[in-house]
Amino acid sequence: MMKIVKDTNPRLREKSLPVELPLSKENEALIHEMMDYLLLSQDASFCEKHPSVREGVGLAAPQVGHNVRMLVISYPNPTEEDPKAVVQHALCNPKIVASSLKKAYLEGGEGCLSVDEEHPGYVYRDFKVVVDAYDAFLKQNVRITARGYEAVVLQHEMDHLDGILFYDHIDKRDPFRKLPNSVAV
Ligand code: CO
Repeated sequence: MMKIVKDTNPRLREKSLPVELPLSKENEALIHEMMDYLLLSQDASFCEKHPSVREGVGLAAPQVGHNVRMLVISYPNPTEEDPKAVVQHALCNPKIVASSLKKAYLEGGEGCLSVDEEHPGYVYRDFKVVVDAYDAFLKQNVRITARGYEAVVLQHEMDHLDGILFYDHIDKRDPFRKLPNSVAV
């Protein structure tokens, strides 16, 4: 079972290094292990047996003790055509190549597997981002155009690769300040 690095550990604040492509056996195993952990964290019966495991929708390599630029994301995204649809990414060396001026935030604020305390407040992210990356599962370069919640999750996980945590973005003097040109997602 992988151990989650908490925000009390200065290693979480380091800038991570790009991974070499094609992926080494070690990094390939690591990103699969990260996705396995994430999916287990969403399994209610597993979490009941392992109370230290919290549910997440994304995980970045520095959060499991490896300061390399890899992250995984998975969450259900049911639509009328496909009620079982999921948004899932396993990305290496992701880069934002375009983003919107419009901002997005989660009404209930953000959370993080590495952060145990509550940090109330809005975290403003770009509403739309275009991300170039190598997808470790598809084994090819991908360009992802993400909006709303997906864009928020992507930016949260990518921040980890630069040692940034969600609460760094919260306005300490006015945590629930409403920005113009922003929407709750
Ligand atoms: Co996080």
